[in-house]
Amino acid sequence: MKVLGIESSCDDTGVAVYDAGAERLLAHRLASQTVHQAYGGVVPELAARDHIRILLPLVRRVLDEAGLAGAAPDGVAYTRGPGLAGALLVGASLGRTLAWGWGVPALGVHHMEGHLLAPMLEDHRPSPPFIALLVSGGHSQLVDVAAPGRYRILGATLDDAAGEAFDKTAKLLGLGYPGGPAVARAAEGGDPGRFRFPRPMTDRPGLDFSFSGLKTYTLTTVEQHRDAAGALDPQTVADIARAFEEAVVDTLAIKCRRALRESGRDCLVIAGGVGANRRLRQRLEQEAGAEGFRVFYPRLEFCTDNGAMIAYAGALRLAAGERIEEAAFEVRPRWSLEDLPPISE
Ligand code: KG4
Ligand code: ZN
Repeated sequence: MKVLGIESSCDDTGVAVYDAGAERLLAHRLASQTVHQAYGGVVPELAARDHIRILLPLVRRVLDEAGLAGAAPDGVAYTRGPGLAGALLVGASLGRTLAWGWGVPALGVHHMEGHLLAPMLEDHRPSPPFIALLVSGGHSQLVDVAAPGRYRILGATLDDAAGEAFDKTAKLLGLGYPGGPAVARAAEGGDPGRFRFPRPMTDRPGLDFSFSGLKTYTLTTVEQHRDAAGALDPQTVADIARAFEEAVVDTLAIKCRRALRESGRDCLVIAGGVGANRRLRQRLEQEAGAEGFRVFYPRLEFCTDNGAMIAYAGALRLAAGERIEEAAFEVRPRWSLEDLPPISE
């Protein structure tokens, strides 16, 4: 079964074709929108308009590259939520329309299930059960994955998501958008000994996160180090970036270790945009060696939003017989992983 996947939940337009029979990705492409850079964050209306402009030519190109020019795939999967309503509607309407025209089944996929299953696209892939650390721009969650489709949220952020904290810190430091890669780059030249930022909520039991206090701490540190003209010297920017990154990485690592110990699982999956962070990966590899668990993550380009993960998650569910039957469709800007049905064998 060859499934076309369409991702349009935020500011990345992703399209892919996954072949479930061959267990292989046939083609994938990503167009990252640049219009938002001038605003320092994603502008929902502009995101939706850009998806409209980009999506159809991208679908055509990916179908060509997958060897499906002139032929139909066996199913279409699009991101149904969570995400920006207008952006989701673009992918959902195109996905439903194409499926209807081709006479093949369509299915709306949960964006975070896509992230969570993205490591399954790699040769070195996990087999459930495992614990997943989902860290993106909109979510920070620790999820117990008994099997694909059987999810229990063990902990979540009480305020900002980890990626959001990176983005806000980048803005405070004048580093631009998207903030995660910019902070990580600045942190490379930072002195780890100069500042020590707090590790929120690690001194008490539980698996929830909170990153908004860290943002306030960063703001205070920034204000204390501005010169008379209100500027920060580049070394201080690097040192603050480094201290912030260390604090987030340490906090996430502590919570992962705790989740693994408490659940008795021995396998950890890291997914979502922040999963692309090099220092986070290194730290969790070290932990894995010391604590005796295995760690898996998608290739870097599949940590952030992409169509491949949607094609994969959609293929699993379409192959199990799931499809959207009704003619009307709805997107779900807010949607919990725990509301998903298990995938039948
Ligand atoms: O998964 P994703 O592409 O979109 C959402 O579903 O939200 O994640 C985007 C987030 C952004 O907040 C971005 O700053 C962050 O992931 N990010 C990173 C890195 N690359 C992307 N954060 C830290 N280090 C990185 N290298
Ligand atoms: Zn995402």
